[in-house]
Amino acid sequence: DGAPIFSVTARTPTNIAVIKYWGKRDEALILPLNSSLSVTLDPNDLAATTTVAISPAFEEDKLWLNGKEVSISDSVRYQNCLRAVRERAQGIEAGGEKASQEQLRSWRIHVASRNNFPTAAGLASSAAGFACLVFSLAQLLGVTEERPGDLSAIARLGSGSACRSLYGGFVRWNMGQASDGHDSIAEQVAGEEHWPDLRVLVAVVNDRQKDTSSTAGMQQSVRTSPLLLHRAKAVVPERMVAMERAIAARDFQAFGALTMADSNQFHATCLDTSPPIFYMNDASRQVIGLVEQWNAQAGEIKAAYTFDAGPNAVLFCLEADRGALLRRLLYHFPPSDSTPLNEYVESAELLKEA
Ligand code: PMV
Repeated sequence: DGAPIFSVTARTPTNIAVIKYWGKRDEALILPLNSSLSVTLDPNDLAATTTVAISPAFEEDKLWLNGKEVSISDSVRYQNCLRAVRERAQGIEAGGEKASQEQLRSWRIHVASRNNFPTAAGLASSAAGFACLVFSLAQLLGVTEERPGDLSAIARLGSGSACRSLYGGFVRWNMGQASDGHDSIAEQVAGEEHWPDLRVLVAVVNDRQKDTSSTAGMQQSVRTSPLLLHRAKAVVPERMVAMERAIAARDFQAFGALTMADSNQFHATCLDTSPPIFYMNDASRQVIGLVEQWNAQAGEIKAAYTFDAGPNAVLFCLEADRGALLRRLLYHFPPSDSTPLNEYVESAELLKEA
């Protein structure tokens, strides 16, 4: 009926933590017990694509995830993100149409988001999703940051790790000190062009949804794991400094050693939780074995593994060793008839290059 509709589409990659976030000091504001550091992937790899639209013709806020409508009223986290961006709305002008601040604050919003990778399989799908939601909403409503990192603090309300996906390259999430969370924000420590020959390989071991969500797992660990507090207070602060130094120097030996140590301590914390949480499976441990064996044979770190709240392996190596890493993986996990053709072709091409 001629009602205006404004829309924005954005794409945001996921990020892989090399110093892990595990445990909150504030559940509602999602404030972490320790700082963390991650690598943001290429937007052409694992990413969320989100379209947000606003119009006086919409009767309620609505959300579609991977093509299926999901109730927004059931999700406090979606509501918190939506409210925080809406409160900061300014006026906008697009395609000859205008919307005032009052209109933008009262009109309803539709959100449609899609991941190009398995959701909730420990591949940080919520990180890409909430970062993309907050970024696209901010564009839609003309919101600009008052202080650098403001938008990351809003994305954090959706999912802690999401705050790191608002930046490319290497990103630190400062735990912050304030009780209102305004200083618990993400900050880029090096841009995406900083380390051109660093490669990330995501080995999907299992694309089923994980059994214990990161939210539930963290709660259990905070309640029961003595190792978690030790880690947050006595291990991570020094590791953050060492990791930033390794990244600044493009020192793959230090980067790889710290990445593996931190993944292993995170999973040790899960095992130290009561009841224990097992995110890795036999295939995950097989990947650890083959990487450790290769590194031991070579007398240096050729590849480094890290695992989040699921069994899938994320592997780092340098470009020069990419073919060799893939050859080792394919030797231990030969492609079967059920391997999707695109993955197989990709593997075959890399093998040819190697
Ligand atoms: O942000 P969440 O609730 O998805 O938690 C992420 C936790 C880990 O992926 C295991 C670690 C991290 O820092 O990303």
